[in-house]
Amino acid sequence: MTNKIDPCTLVLFGASGNLARVKLYPGLFRLDMLGRLPDDMKIVGVGRQLVDLEAWRADIKSMLDTKFKKGYDQKVFERFIARNFYHANPPTDPDAFAKLKTTLSDESVFPQNLAYFLSVRPVDFAPVVESLANVGLTQEDKYWRRVVIEKPFGTDLPSAKELQAAITKHLKESQIYRIDHYLGKSALQNILLQRFTNTVLEPIWNNQYIDHVQITNTEMLGVGDRTQFYDSTGALRDMLQSHILQTLALTAMEQPKDLSPEGVRDAKIKLLEEIRPIPVNALEKHAFRAQYAAGEINGEKVPGYLEELGNQDSVVETYAALKLFIDNPRWKGVPFYIRTAKRLHEADTRISIRFKKAPLQINDQDQNWLIIGIQPRECIKLEVQSKIPGLDIQTRTIQLDAANRWDSDDSVDAYEALLLNLMQGDNSNYLHISEAEAQWRLVDPVVKAWAEDKHPVHQYPAGSRDPEASKVIFEAEDQFWRYSIELGGDK
Ligand code: BG6
Repeated sequence: MTNKIDPCTLVLFGASGNLARVKLYPGLFRLDMLGRLPDDMKIVGVGRQLVDLEAWRADIKSMLDTKFKKGYDQKVFERFIARNFYHANPPTDPDAFAKLKTTLSDESVFPQNLAYFLSVRPVDFAPVVESLANVGLTQEDKYWRRVVIEKPFGTDLPSAKELQAAITKHLKESQIYRIDHYLGKSALQNILLQRFTNTVLEPIWNNQYIDHVQITNTEMLGVGDRTQFYDSTGALRDMLQSHILQTLALTAMEQPKDLSPEGVRDAKIKLLEEIRPIPVNALEKHAFRAQYAAGEINGEKVPGYLEELGNQDSVVETYAALKLFIDNPRWKGVPFYIRTAKRLHEADTRISIRFKKAPLQINDQDQNWLIIGIQPRECIKLEVQSKIPGLDIQTRTIQLDAANRWDSDDSVDAYEALLLNLMQGDNSNYLHISEAEAQWRLVDPVVKAWAEDKHPVHQYPAGSRDPEASKVIFEAEDQFWRYSIELGGDK
């Protein structure tokens, strides 16, 4: 299914920032290569520096050269570069937005449907929207006006509400595109399709058959040069509150009434609102945090988090795990364990579903797992017990393993998909305010309790598997972290 795109102008705030350089300009260029940009679409980069058009276009070329090392089609490049303009918005200029309006009002150059992408500091989201509104640039009449707000939408429930109140003075919900880039990943979009377009999965997708679900994101990377940001955020807010809860929503929601943006978002909102609040008075059984200590990644020695931060007192977690229950008939009694970590033994994002024990149990520990690999491998695997050929009655686990992505498939970056959706006016892969709020409502009490607890945080050596102590959140003795997607990854 492809939607038609109106002629439009994309106005990119923070145009020389890292996200724009690494994802947005290369992504737009790829869309142009694929013939997905309307002929007369224009892109206006907005930044604080004064840069002339020639220098700006040379800068964009350098972004593309960095990204597309094998080169690119010169004709597409000429077409793409001609779409690009630059507008300086120095913070000291009180007329900067009025000037932007004057620039954009040249209809001979700029289509009047306007999409603003705010790749700026979160504290600037509301002021930029307000400044745009003050000069009439958010007003929809003949033309649409859309605003993309980057992650995070607030840092807790009150600040999310405050941001929402500030921007809805000027924008309708249909004009607001809140990003969670995981929703732009094909592998995430596939969860919904794989679940509901196959008769074999849906009948067993419930508490009658499922023992528990694990949703995991682990990285081998550390916090890198983002120490300050990370130390004010932590793993729980950085990953679980957003990407992992969205993955959970897609995994657990009821079938949407249709695939319209409203249909999909309504089903996710309902699910997120059905997650039981985490009991803070029994937090140690429901939530676990840890920090990576010095260790080895790919044979190289790496420092610990506190060392990188240069502050031994931080209690901010680089590993976070939560146990959640969903209060609806489908999931009653089924624990959902969600976890994320930096500097674990492998980089992997997956959904692992463990089924209940079969009536006939040859070995005590025999289990059936269904695993949906999100990244790096996009796959679906089913582990079943099978007889070992021979004279004895013995079973072993075998894996039915299928790729959701084939080598010949297009590899589309999440931001490319989201940029296209934005121009199409399809916000199903963007967050509704109710989703952002439900996600904050759930994690806020844990964030607060952890911030107040100044006991030294549990340490795990970089490159290791889950800290042993994290098992405290499991409901049953025979539950344990699935540490790998591979056969035997549950042992
Ligand atoms: C970002 C987080 O939102 O997502 C990062 O801030 C994290 O800390 C990143 O590394 C992971 O995204 P991806 O697409 O690489 O899995």
